[in-house]
Parts: sequence; structure tokens; C-alpha cells
Amino acid sequence: MIIKNIGLLVGIQPESVLRVEGAAQGSTGILENAWLKIEDGRIVDFGSGSVMPGSDRESIDAHGGMVMPGFCDSHTHVVYAGSRDGEFLDKINGLSYEEIAARGGGILNSADLLHRTSEQDLYEQSMVRVQEMMAKGTVALEIKSGYGLCPEGEMKMLRVIDRIKKSIPAAVKSTFLGAHAVGRGYTHEEYVQTVIDMIPEAAEYADFVDVFCDEGFFTVEDTDRILTAAEHLLTPKIHANELAVSGGVQVGVKHQALSVDHLERTTDAEISALKGTWTMPTMLPGSSFFLGLPYGQAKDYIKAGLGVALASDYNPGSSPSGDMRFVMAQGCIKMRLTPIEAFNAVTLNSAYAMGVSTEYGSITPGKKAALILTQPGWDLTKLAYQYQTPFIRQVIL
Ligand code: NIG
Ligand code: FE
Repeated sequence: MIIKNIGLLVGIQPESVLRVEGAAQGSTGILENAWLKIEDGRIVDFGSGSVMPGSDRESIDAHGGMVMPGFCDSHTHVVYAGSRDGEFLDKINGLSYEEIAARGGGILNSADLLHRTSEQDLYEQSMVRVQEMMAKGTVALEIKSGYGLCPEGEMKMLRVIDRIKKSIPAAVKSTFLGAHAVGRGYTHEEYVQTVIDMIPEAAEYADFVDVFCDEGFFTVEDTDRILTAAEHLLTPKIHANELAVSGGVQVGVKHQALSVDHLERTTDAEISALKGTWTMPTMLPGSSFFLGLPYGQAKDYIKAGLGVALASDYNPGSSPSGDMRFVMAQGCIKMRLTPIEAFNAVTLNSAYAMGVSTEYGSITPGKKAALILTQPGWDLTKLAYQYQTPFIRQVIL
């Protein structure tokens, strides 16, 4: 299949580039007036000119629109039961995320709802959100457990994630986040041990392990124990520095985490700890927006030579949205990323942060043809600037 009449082909990268860092985050390959050839669901070639020379193949007419790699969302909690709209009013009335959690709301509220919801119902509710994300251009997403908070509930979530993985054309990675909050009926110590004991069974389904390493949730010592127990079974991706400077970045780096996520509150020490590592700093502007937290200092990370990924954090408590285009726009508007920096953060770097950048995240021969085809007249700047106007003509998966 050929896509012809592409106005702008955006996100071209050589095969060797699996993430972009420092100054490189500010550039990407762009071809004006182009065609792109797809075979067996993969990009095989592209070039200049509105039509591929000598081709009479089945084609999609891009009508001068932009073709870009689909969004990769490396951090979501999109499998959950019901909603937390009751707490939305508490939030409007001035209670903080921590205060809502301390009153039995928050993650524990979602866990109670999940226990009362059948596995089938949980799957169906979650699929509605996943379908919405794909319609908005997400072609790869990570999904975490963490609302089960007991062996039975966590396994129920991991099975639902696995079922989603097998039923949609987008790529799905699964993360065991048993250590999201202490489950009801456990002491803190009992629960940390329970999470450790769950790891071998969770590893049969999950790709990654995560810990909410933050004030009021799990300590650096808890995190270290859990990641040590998961070594050789699950690669870490850590929730760190959302509510406080938690030490989560450092313990994540120590265990060669693929990503450390949130980072609303960081100092130079976190930037130094990340330099020269495999770990992708990942920021979640949707939760800064929804909770009124500071935005991550993405620009400082990039100036220091690091790469930055952005993800949605889609969850019922701190970011009830999986709109990666809005995430990209917030990267520009609130974090002062250039449109190209923000674009790389929601495509190639977020693909890296979920371990799929050999297959997704750029226009590269051999990678999956997981693409967004826009209406005519769009470019990356307009995408972030005119951040509410519908722009998608077709998502190709
Ligand atoms: O990434 N911070 C911890 N976990 C989620 C929120 C989960 C919830 O409130 O349900 C987050 O923001
Ligand atoms: Fe999260």
C-alpha cells in the first residue's frame, strides 16, 4: 500500500536512533510533498514527490495532510472500575490529593470499586477508554495494575490488561504496580512483603514492575526491596517525585529502570543521577494540570543533555484523560518545549520509555506503520498551538 500526496512526512529517524537526548530532542526528519510505502503492516520506504514513481498500487490519498508516527503513551492506569467523580467535588472544594487519599478516597476507593466489579465488566469499561485513546492517535500504550492491592485483585487486573493486549491493534505493555498503595487490611510491612511474594506470578503476565515511591506511599527502602526481588524478572518503571523529592529517581537508576515518571518535584541531584544512564525521565503534564502541581522542569533536563518523554498518566484520580495531543500541547504551553521537542517526547522517547522504540515512535523503514494521517494544512506547531481543533483524518494501525 502507498500513502500518496503527503504534505508533510514528519518524524523520520534512522534505525539506529532509539531515543533523542539534549539538542537532538529539538530536531526530527521532515520531508515535504512525500509518499510512503507500507508492506505487511510495516513502513518499507518513503520518498519525495506526491506519488511513488512507477507505482500503480492500492493507495491512500493523504490530500496534502501531515503523516506522523502515532502517539506512544508510556504511562497509564487505564484499567480501572467506575469513576472517582465524587472526589472531583472534594478537589474543587480545595482538598489535596493526599487529603482525599487520607479520607479513604483516592486509590483505595478505586480498589474497593474494582473488587465489586467483575473481570468482564472491568475489561469492557477499560476497552471503552482504550478505544477512545486509539481514536485520538495512540498506537502504543503501557497499562499498570495497582487498583487490586491484594493478590487476587492484582492478578485480575493483569489478566484484563493481557486480554486488552490480545484484542487491539495497538501495542500494549503491562506493568505490575502492586505497590501503588497499601491494600486494606494489611500493615505497611505486611503489604510490602505481599507485593514481593506476588512478583513471580505477576511476571507471567507483566513486562515491567512499578512502585509509587513517594511521601505517604512507599519509601526508598520499600522500593529497593521490591526491585531487588523483581531483578531478572521485571524491568522497573518508577513513580517518583510527584508529591515530594522522594529519592525515587536514584533508586530507579540504581536498578536500571527503563523510566522514572512524574518528576514534578526535582532538583539538580535527580538530573545528575540520570546522566549517562538508560533511564528515560518521563513527565506527566496531565496530572500537573489536574492536581495543580508544578510542571516538570523538562527544559532543564534537555539542557543537561538528557531526553524527556511525556505520557498521559490516564487514571481516575490525577489525570482522567488519555489525550496525547493535549499532553504534547501542555509540553509546549506549560513546559516551554518546542513543538519538535514535545513531538519527540510523545513519540520516540515515550516509545523508548515503554520498550517499543525498535518498532514504534518514528518514520523508519522496518518499523510498524502505526501512523496518524492529518487533515490538510497541519504541522507540528499548529498541532500544539491550536490544541483543541480536531486534526485527525485517519489513524493507521
Ligand atoms: O500516577 N501517583 C500515583 N498514581 C497515579 C494516581 C492514581 C490514582 O489516584 O488513582 C498517578 O498519578
Ligand atoms: Fe501514574
